[in-house]
Amino acid sequence: MTTEIYYFSGTGNSLVVAQDIAEKTNGKLVPIASVMSEENIKTDAESMGVVFPVYHSVVNGVPLIIQRFAKKLENTDSKYIFAVCTCGGWSGATIENLQNIIKSKGGKLAAGFTVQMPDNTKSIPEKKQEEMFNNWNNQLETISEYVNAQKTGKFETMGLPIKILAAPYFSYLKSKTYKMLEELLNTSDMSFEELVLSTDLSYYADDNCEGCGTCSRVCPVHNINIVEEKPEWQHHCEQCFACFNWCPRSAIHGAWISDEIRYHHPDIRVKDMLSQTSFKD
Ligand SMILES: Cc1cc2nc3c(=O)[nH]c(=O)nc-3n(C[C@H](O)[C@H](O)[C@H](O)COP(=O)(O)O)c2cc1C
Repeated sequence: MTTEIYYFSGTGNSLVVAQDIAEKTNGKLVPIASVMSEENIKTDAESMGVVFPVYHSVVNGVPLIIQRFAKKLENTDSKYIFAVCTCGGWSGATIENLQNIIKSKGGKLAAGFTVQMPDNTKSIPEKKQEEMFNNWNNQLETISEYVNAQKTGKFETMGLPIKILAAPYFSYLKSKTYKMLEELLNTSDMSFEELVLSTDLSYYADDNCEGCGTCSRVCPVHNINIVEEKPEWQHHCEQCFACFNWCPRSAIHGAWISDEIRYHHPDIRVKDMLSQTSFKD
């Protein structure tokens, strides 16, 4: 059986998960960023996985780039498709939302998993991080067993009863998320998509920046140009937070970026992140 594992990652959590699953299933890794310029995405592999981080679970959970990716999928009807999202705490209906897009393209999600990893927007104690990495090793066995046997039916997503009971609370949280992004960008007339893609309007590099270009090289969507030894963001940001988390001099700042938090998965280095961008070089 041939397996392709499509992945997107800003700080390495989803990359580790994708790499580990690939090793256990003899799968081939494909960076999602490398296929996004194609109009339609088709694969001859019998089995395909999608591995990605959860963004804004109260709004949708599926990052915009993953939504666009899933909408480009063709020829999925006879394939075994599985999804794995990594999140810092709660994935809400992320798996279900992705499942709906895949269904609209004629495919069927066979299984969907949620993996707890350190939240790259918060400060997580090292001990807690270790616990999450150990838990992942156990969960990896279950996921690879599912994929290797093409088992179906596991969906780690928010159940309908919670969805119904907590609907008013989620709607409150959703409007809070919109408001937060609007305040960050000092605007009130953008759609959620526009707000996300424009997050970088608030980003800047301070005097510690030496123009090394790491931010530009790790950005999975080529959203940063280095001009006169400083980064210039191009306003098609996917909000992956790679630029400031990988900056070797912690020189990048902006709205929603806490100066105390600089996170990346401990097993991942800058060179590993380049697999998402080097296809263009
Ligand atoms: C813009 C943004 C929004 C996020 N929203 C959520 C969220 O709603 N729920 C959650 O549990 N984690 C959330 N996270 C945390 C990430 O999902 C988590 O740290 C993930 O493992 C990062 O994966 P990566 O290292 O592959 O980029 C968010 C992270 C970012 C950057």
